[in-house]
Amino acid sequence: MKSLFFFTGLACLVPFAFHLDERPSAAPAQTLQEASPFPIGFAINPATLQRNAAYRQTVTQEVNSLTADVAMKPSRISPQKGVYDFGKAAILIDFAQAQKKRVHGHALVWFIDTSPAWLKQIRDSTELENTLKTYIQTVGTHFKGKVASWDVVNEAFNDQGGIRTDSLNKSGKTLLNLGKILGQDYVARMFQYARAADPNARLFYNEYGQETRPAKLAAVVAMVTDFKRRGIPINGLGLQMHINIDTPDSGIEEALRKSAETGLLVHISELDIALNPGKKKDFSATPELLEKQYQKYKFVVSTYKKVVPAPQQFGITLWGVDDGTSWIPGYCQCPDYVLPFDATFAKKRAHQGFLDGLK
Ligand code: XIL
Repeated sequence: MKSLFFFTGLACLVPFAFHLDERPSAAPAQTLQEASPFPIGFAINPATLQRNAAYRQTVTQEVNSLTADVAMKPSRISPQKGVYDFGKAAILIDFAQAQKKRVHGHALVWFIDTSPAWLKQIRDSTELENTLKTYIQTVGTHFKGKVASWDVVNEAFNDQGGIRTDSLNKSGKTLLNLGKILGQDYVARMFQYARAADPNARLFYNEYGQETRPAKLAAVVAMVTDFKRRGIPINGLGLQMHINIDTPDSGIEEALRKSAETGLLVHISELDIALNPGKKKDFSATPELLEKQYQKYKFVVSTYKKVVPAPQQFGITLWGVDDGTSWIPGYCQCPDYVLPFDATFAKKRAHQGFLDGLK
């Protein structure tokens, strides 16, 4: 009895004390999805979602849209010819349904080495066309009603604005040479196959580097104009936006403006902002660099909100949840801290930058 009395007595006093000292100045902590008029997403890994409670809690609270970082790529969905494995993707889909979050499918067709080896071995144009058609039909049908949208083709253009026709990358790795084998117009046909597979999914063309490669940006816009003229189904443009604190603001704004002028939905589909563009091995983050990152997040988000008309705002997806699981350090072989959450899932200044950009 005594301890209960003490407890309730204290409980009466505490709100009063807070009211006087702290409450008037302390703004309520806001999550990204609460603050945003358009969907906010993370690219997530289903296994990490299951294993790591802090990761799961951050995903649950902060965002209302999910993309699989790798689980819905061809190499994971179909590791062998004729074999389909939807198990990892199902974890993500079940979680999204339980939490009422949107799922964006990523990606049906991609030239790079996450395409499975068996697919990259196909050199005959008819065989490759039919194989991709079957893949899109099978996967599109499987996820019908489960995904809102698809990145149908990822990264078809080179930096000069031509369709890629390389068989090897810079380090000699085999690529899926879609442009050479299937011809320049293959992107249009992949969109037609996707539309046939899922009539309700919104279909995106996804690309990187539009903010620093004007020829590529122009090529994407010209492709949309051509698709519209020919009646090829396309609903949106994904701008990956793997940028850094020195990426010029003018290029970011231009990429968003030109993409919005197509009239399609615009998705910042893979946002992260590097602190270490020089890829220094002995790098560490300083308060000054974290402040620059705050500014760049704020600029990207506020510019998206300003330049993209509201009905075209498909949303902004961060490529990863936290600095500890981000893909960037592995990719650049260097330390970096690119996301709004640090490796302990604490909010960085970048998180405030995102919120301030939404104001
Ligand atoms: C990355 C994943 O995050 C990594 O885990 C994987 O090893 C490679 O792919 N552009 C894209 C994404 O469209 O699919 C890439 O994701 C990052 C670059």
